[in-house]
Amino acid sequence: MTPLDQRIDDVRSSALREISEAGDRSALDGVRVKYLARKGHIAALFEELSSVPPDQKPAAGKALNLLRREIQAAFDARLGQAAHPEGRRIDRTDLTLPGKQKWVGSRHPLTQTLDEIRGIFRRMGFAVATGPEIEDDYHNFEALNFPPDHPARDMQDTFFISKNVLLRTHTSPVQIRVMENTPPPVRVIIPGRVYRNEAISARSYCLFHQVEGLYVDQGVTFRELKGTLVSFAKQFYGSSLKYRFRPSYFPFTEPSAEMDITCFLCGGEGCRVCKKTGWLEILGCGMVDPNVYSFVGYDPKKVSGYAFGMGIERIAMLRFGLDDIRILFENDVRFLRQFA
Ligand code: DAH
Repeated sequence: MTPLDQRIDDVRSSALREISEAGDRSALDGVRVKYLARKGHIAALFEELSSVPPDQKPAAGKALNLLRREIQAAFDARLGQAAHPEGRRIDRTDLTLPGKQKWVGSRHPLTQTLDEIRGIFRRMGFAVATGPEIEDDYHNFEALNFPPDHPARDMQDTFFISKNVLLRTHTSPVQIRVMENTPPPVRVIIPGRVYRNEAISARSYCLFHQVEGLYVDQGVTFRELKGTLVSFAKQFYGSSLKYRFRPSYFPFTEPSAEMDITCFLCGGEGCRVCKKTGWLEILGCGMVDPNVYSFVGYDPKKVSGYAFGMGIERIAMLRFGLDDIRILFENDVRFLRQFA
C-alpha cells in the first residue's frame, strides 16, 4: 500500500463516519465543505498526484476519482434523508398523535346578531334599506327636527369632517333618505354603522351598529308600534319576557318612548348588568314627528307612522356574555373562532 493509498483510506473512513453522524443540514454542509469543496481534503489529495511516480499515477488517479464519487454519493443520500426526515418513519403510523384541525371561517358575533334581527323584521314585512356613513348636517340633524343650537345635538358626540359634513351619529338620517326617495307607504329596517366621539372604554367605542325601523302609512298607530316591538322582543329574547314602555324624548318622534325588558341575566332579580333595577333598556321609539314629514314632502295630515332604533353591540354582549365592547372590533381569531 502506497502512502497515498493509506491516506485515501483514512479520508474515506473519516468522511463516511462524519456524514453519517451529521445531526442536521448545517452539520452536513460543514462536512461537505471539509471534504468535497475546492479546498477540501479530497482536493488536497488530488494535488499530491503530481508527486506520485509516473508509473503509479493512473492507478492513483483512479482511486482518487472513486473516492470522490463514493463520498459525494454518501453525502447525497444523507442529504435526501435530512430533507425528508419523516421519510424514514413513513411506514409507522402513530395513532396517538392529535388529528390535524382545519379551521373554517365563522360569522362575526355582531353579524350573527344583526342577521337574526333582520330575519325577524323581514318576516314581519320590513324591507332592508341602507344609507351613507358620511352624512351631512341636514340629514343627520336638521331634517330630523334638531334645530340649529338645539341641546339634543350635544347628546351625540359628533365626528365632524367639515362644518356640514360628519360621520353619522345614528341610522335615523336614513329614515329621511328613504322618505325623500319613496312615496308612502314605507316599511323598512336600516342596519348600519354609526360613529360617536366618546371616550373609548369597556362600555363604549367610537363606532358601533344600530338597527333603525320606520313604518309610515295611513292611520298607523302607537298600538301598532307596541305590537310590532313586543312581537320582535318575544321572538328575539324569548316568549316569556316581560316588558315596559317608558316615556322619553327624541326630536324626531312625538310621543317618544324607550322599551325595557326584564333583565335576562338575573330574570328581574337585579344584578350588575341591569344595575340592580331588573330592567334592561333595549330601544328608543315613537311616532314620527309631523315636522319630519314636512322636510321630506309627506303630508302630515294624510300619513302617520312610527320609528324605532336599537344598538346592536349591547345586545350581542348580553347575548354572548361579553364584558368589553372592544373585543368585537379587534378581530382576534382566538375570540372569533368561538363563534364558528
Ligand atoms: N337615533 C336614536 C339614537 O341614536 C335612536 C332612536 C330613538 C331611533 C327613537 C328612532 C327612534 O328611530 O324613534 O339614540
